Amino acid sequence: MPTNIAIDGPAGAGKSTIAKRVAKELSFIYVDTGAMYRAMALYLLKHEIPMEDAEAIAESCQDASISIRYKNGEQQVILNGENVTALLRAEEVGNMASVSSANPSVRKKLVSLQQELAASADVVMDGRDIGTVVLPDANVKIYLTASSRTRAMRRYQELQQKGETCDLDAIEADIKERDYRDMHREISPLRQAEDAVLVDSSEMTIQEVCDAIIAVYEEKK
Ligand code: DC
Repeated sequence: MPTNIAIDGPAGAGKSTIAKRVAKELSFIYVDTGAMYRAMALYLLKHEIPMEDAEAIAESCQDASISIRYKNGEQQVILNGENVTALLRAEEVGNMASVSSANPSVRKKLVSLQQELAASADVVMDGRDIGTVVLPDANVKIYLTASSRTRAMRRYQELQQKGETCDLDAIEADIKERDYRDMHREISPLRQAEDAVLVDSSEMTIQEVCDAIIAVYEEKK
C-alpha cells in the first residue's frame, strides 16, 4: 500500500513549499491539488462561464479533462491536452478557483483524480480537504497554519521582491476573507482533521517545519 501524507491549511501557510520539500526528502511524489482547482477555473474563464452561475459551472466542468504529469520532478497540469501550468498562478485564476472550487460537481471530479493518484504512489498531497475528505486514511495528516499577519508579510515580501507595490493591511484583509470563504463553505470546508497534527509555522523556518513533519512520519512508520 502506498504511503500518503496529507497537508492541509489556509492560503499562504507555506503548504506547497513545505510539501514539495518533504516529498523530495522522502522521495515521494508531490501533488498540488490547488493547481487542479486552478486549472478547472482557467477552463471556466476560457469558456466565459460566469462565476455566479453554479449550474453552468457544474455542466461545463464535465468537459474539462484534467491530468497531471511530472517534468524534472515538477508537477505539470494538463488541461484538455494543453500544459497550462504557467497560467495557473494569475490572480484572476485564483479568484475564480476560490468560487468554483466550492461547486460540488467540480469537487467530485477532482477528488476522484486525487484519490486515484494517492492509490498508485507514495504522495505528499496538499490542499484544504485532503485529511478530512480526499484521504481520510492518510498515514500522516498535518494541519499547517500561521497567523494571518505572518502569511500577509510573506506574501508582501514576495510581491516586493518582484518589484510590485503592495499594501500589507490590504493583503492581510484579503487573506482573512479567503480564510473565511474556505472555512465556511458548505462543501468540504477547510478544517483540521481530528487526527491531524497542528503545525504553526509563524515562528519556524522552512527546514524546521519540514523536519517536524518528517518526524511525525518517522514516528508513525
Ligand atoms: O492553494 P491554492 O491557492 O492553489 O488553491 C486554489 C483554490 O482552490 C483555493 O481557493 C482553495 C481551493 N482548493 C480547495 O478547495 N481544495 C483543495 N484541496 C485545494 C484547493
